[in-house]
Amino acid sequence: PQNQYTMCWLDYKRCEDEEYLKKVIPFISNIFILDNNYYFRNAALELKEAIKNIFGVEPNIQTTSYLDFHRGTLIGKLGNEVIEKFLEKEEKEQIGNEGFLIKVVATKTQNIILLVAKTESGIIYGTFELINRLRVKSNLSSLYIIENPKAPLRVINHWDNMDGSIERGYAGSSIFFSNNRVKRSLKRVRDYARLLASIGINGVVINNVNVRGKAIWLITPKYLPELSEIAETFRLYGIKLYLSINFASPIYIGGLSTADPLDPDVFKWWQETVKTIYSYIPDFGGFLVKADSEFNPGPYVYGRSHADGANMLAKALLPYGGVVIWRAFVYNCLQDWRDTKTDRAKAAYENFKPLDGEFLDNVVLQIKYGPMDFQVREPVSPLFGGMEKTNQMIELQITQEYTGQQIHLCYLGTLWKEILEFDTYCKGKGSYVKRIVDGSLFGWKYCGFAGVSNIGSSINWTGHDLAQANLWTFGKLAWNPDRSVEDIAKEWILLTFGDDKKVVENILWMLLNSHRIYEKYTTPLGLGWMVNPGHHYGPNPEGYEYSKWGTYHRADTKAIGVDRTSKGTGYTLQYHPHWQKIFDDIEKCPEDLLLFFHRVPYTHRLKSGKTLIQFMYDSHFEGAEEVDVLIQKWEELRGKIDEDIFNRVSERLKMQKEHAIEWRDVINTYFYRKTGIPDEKGRLIYP
Ligand code: GCU
Repeated sequence: PQNQYTMCWLDYKRCEDEEYLKKVIPFISNIFILDNNYYFRNAALELKEAIKNIFGVEPNIQTTSYLDFHRGTLIGKLGNEVIEKFLEKEEKEQIGNEGFLIKVVATKTQNIILLVAKTESGIIYGTFELINRLRVKSNLSSLYIIENPKAPLRVINHWDNMDGSIERGYAGSSIFFSNNRVKRSLKRVRDYARLLASIGINGVVINNVNVRGKAIWLITPKYLPELSEIAETFRLYGIKLYLSINFASPIYIGGLSTADPLDPDVFKWWQETVKTIYSYIPDFGGFLVKADSEFNPGPYVYGRSHADGANMLAKALLPYGGVVIWRAFVYNCLQDWRDTKTDRAKAAYENFKPLDGEFLDNVVLQIKYGPMDFQVREPVSPLFGGMEKTNQMIELQITQEYTGQQIHLCYLGTLWKEILEFDTYCKGKGSYVKRIVDGSLFGWKYCGFAGVSNIGSSINWTGHDLAQANLWTFGKLAWNPDRSVEDIAKEWILLTFGDDKKVVENILWMLLNSHRIYEKYTTPLGLGWMVNPGHHYGPNPEGYEYSKWGTYHRADTKAIGVDRTSKGTGYTLQYHPHWQKIFDDIEKCPEDLLLFFHRVPYTHRLKSGKTLIQFMYDSHFEGAEEVDVLIQKWEELRGKIDEDIFNRVSERLKMQKEHAIEWRDVINTYFYRKTGIPDEKGRLIYP
């Protein structure tokens, strides 16, 4: 039966290039599996299916001991005699646990592609890499790849609820849950696992960090039999299952009177629970915990520290190799707007910095990229580089909560890359965020990337077809944050839309410029928020101004922004002195973050010589206008892109234009009313 959904970048199209086909056929008409197990057979079947679709030939899969190695693709593990004959010593040494090698042997008598790895995970990652290289018609005579992921943990966080809804999901309902049950058909889950394996993901948390109602019971035999099937589906693709837990589970499920992490009965309860989980899921990844955060229970309830809480769970998981991923998103969400001393931006650091060195080895602190909450731009959280003795993961939001909710085109790769390239200076020059979260700077074993998922049951997985690029890029950057995003985005376009020059050029332009455009017509200069409360879509300049969430810009008729310098709330003091000095100084502070760090008069002159108020007007007019360029670039591709996709994206771009105009006018009018200063260029600002 026809799929009810596309396969994104894994939609294999027939290769029309006869020349290439001729060259490639000898190498792919046989697939030899040298380690015959379930996982290798699965990898071989992936390859076979792909070859069938792309080249129209059906390779034989051979698992017999008699092998004729003259023509075909050899899939095998390091250590296998036959495989090792083809490898140099240095090559073998370079293949890490999840890595792989692809090498071509082309002589008069041999046409062989070797795919070698140390583990089953490496084989499946390598299989997809090989498929994709064949799809972009890589030259076989020079095909030689040794790849190892930089970061050990590359995890997707789903904020899926058991009723099937997804918190901050903009692409339909959950593929895992509906009607308070685990879905019975795993076909889509399997296709999802394939997509994730093809971008090198190795972990997935399938339930929301806000664990309420039935979801609290996911860690019990009530749901574990079904979860073990999901885990098995993911396992085939090198991906481990993790679960979000409610810290007060011992009370809810266990009937205990407390969830105090230092209470022996509480610990015993968790030990038993963990033992049961592993009896169903032997390679269970571990727990993701949102504690003492936005009304979720945590150790503070019992006067204990977050280290007490995390370590107790870590001890229970340790015998099985599980980890505790503990979120640093802890702040006072019941602030009084009149209180100007408390600064939410400082909260994560204040809560966690004092605990540096107290966490056990199998605890990882998961830190949102910025100190607030996934705004269109924020400075890098000072916790990166601020805690040298604590394993850390960076949390990025693939789902576009504050960045246009997959109605607006907003490619996030460019922003993420800037964050990863930020030099914290914590160990001197070159202490980049990417080197912290990949573990190399401090030699951590557990660390990496967490991305909040943007997928759901919609036909194209992500609502906006071009938002698939965000998922792709998250995986690729987690695998190798040193790669350029241009390169990553281009590869996605080639695999998704083919190699037509105009298609590649235009979509690349659209992706690479889209975040800046979105920022320009929404909240530039690090301003943030100004969204409608609750659902967070559309402009509302004072939507969060008098609320309890700690998110204020405090605009009056003269100035806007919060002074977070060492003379203000003192937030800048959380950074290395190198950055503290820069952020403190209004002249040196990167302009993109000006209103995050400073309270600035509207008449203040920016580097360009423009006043702040004029910049605001210009930015909003320009941003909304640049959406026309996005539309035009897309329009130029009519006829070159699959019609369904073309129309879906056109629809979204049309909405983006309307909503960008709304942003422009609301924000411009807001500033005009506050200041009474007219636009120098005399454009229409509604009074
Ligand atoms: C944001 C988001 C919430 C989410 C929270 C979190 O505040 O709006 O829906 O639960 O982040 O990351 O825990």
